[in-house]
Amino acid sequence: MGSGLGIGLLGLGTVGGGVASILQNPNERHPLVADLRLIRVAVQDLKRPRSVELPIELFTTDPFKVVNDPTVDVVVELIGGIEPARSLILQAIAKGKSIVTANKAVIARHGQEIADAAAKAGVYVLIEAAVGGGIPIIEPLKQSLGGNRINRVSGIINGTTSYILTRMVNEGAAYESALEDAQNLGYAEANPAADVDGIDAADKIAILAALAFGGSVDRSNIPTTGISHLKGRDMDCASQLGYSVKLLAVAERMKESAEPLPLSLRVQPTLIPNDHPLAGVNGVNNAILVEGDPIGQVMFYGPGAGAGPTASAVVADILNIAGIRQAGKMENRVDPLLAASSWRNCVLVDQSKIRQCHYLRFCTQDTPGVIGRIGGCFGEQGVSIQSIIQLNANKANAEIVVITHEVSQSKMEAATKAIEALPEVINLAAHLGCL
Ligand code: NDP
Ligand code: HSE
Repeated sequence: MGSGLGIGLLGLGTVGGGVASILQNPNERHPLVADLRLIRVAVQDLKRPRSVELPIELFTTDPFKVVNDPTVDVVVELIGGIEPARSLILQAIAKGKSIVTANKAVIARHGQEIADAAAKAGVYVLIEAAVGGGIPIIEPLKQSLGGNRINRVSGIINGTTSYILTRMVNEGAAYESALEDAQNLGYAEANPAADVDGIDAADKIAILAALAFGGSVDRSNIPTTGISHLKGRDMDCASQLGYSVKLLAVAERMKESAEPLPLSLRVQPTLIPNDHPLAGVNGVNNAILVEGDPIGQVMFYGPGAGAGPTASAVVADILNIAGIRQAGKMENRVDPLLAASSWRNCVLVDQSKIRQCHYLRFCTQDTPGVIGRIGGCFGEQGVSIQSIIQLNANKANAEIVVITHEVSQSKMEAATKAIEALPEVINLAAHLGCL
């Protein structure tokens, strides 16, 4: 396998296996692929069956042996999680090695520390595979869209939840069995709660926001709701009303310009009108819609998880480093467009200030005038209603579904509190975002 850049692979699971398979089969790929030399591979369990056959002498169960090997030029971290991934990355950087990683969890939380260490050492940390699986989105945000002022980045950026919701809607599959299939297909995280609770999508939107707006955000402060409490009834109501429900991640600027720049970030199940480009994103596919000035809207779409697509992104990053080295440009100075650089501070606005449209489903007694009283509560709090309808009325109770125009979270909370206090209202059965 090649005689050029020495590759040390940390992890030979779903993604690591996909990467090794590309390195083993360079035919008809870019000629630089054939130049990559797989030197060492760290795994946890030497006896586990692998998707690729590699010489046994390459393997170790001590990932630090890979990081400290002087013949390894690039460390490809595909272990996942925070530790030991963070320490391994920092140690590799300290040894003057560039990093390629698909690990959004560590980059979303320790990206600044890692970027600072890389800048000091004059090496690269490339993360194309960390967001959107096989979709090129990191490099476009760093380079191809660099001439734009980005206003908003929104997208479906978790393949597991996209796959689960699609199976539930299209086939009536049960949530648990769709999740199990996503795990068997290699889409889900080691702990799939990261997927279904929206944590993985929040990691990814934090990374996209940092690149789009030029400064890292407080990862711990992103309002996040997953799909595990999403009810089939709301997916049915959404469908009747002409919407699809997706786990949507959004990052938007709240001011044209300010220091620090205020941003609004959120992850939540969201109703998307069926004629919106994101509504047609199904299965394991992801899509990221970038809105900027002067480009307008540009959407990146493709497979968001899985061995092959993710390995495609990892190998692209390795090739970038191989290309730079071949051009003789690795002399402790990094290309500022390829490096992860921040140029300002960003701050998340208080959750109460986040503005969006809302979908609400109330269970109420089926008494005359209830829609009017609910509408009145919204009006008193300055919440403008896009549509309000009564569904499923029977002898005992009714369902009232409301879609609002864009409004702040604080006004919405005041309105829902007043509505829940109405004697005819049994409960607020569901509250989702809406585009
Ligand atoms: P897997 O669980 O399939 O693979 C993890 C690999 O790391 C395994 O080979 C495991 O060894 C090895 N490993 C774990 N801990 C250690 C350790 N302490 N020392 C040495 N080796 C270790 O994960 P994935 O391939 O799915 O994911 C890898 C990374 O890529 C994660 O950060 C994930 O978030 C990210 N990612 C995954 C995608 C996907 O579709 N799966 C898509 C995009 C990003 P062993 O095999 O012996 O257990
Ligand atoms: N678990 C992640 C997902 C892998 O399903 O999107 C890709 O990052």
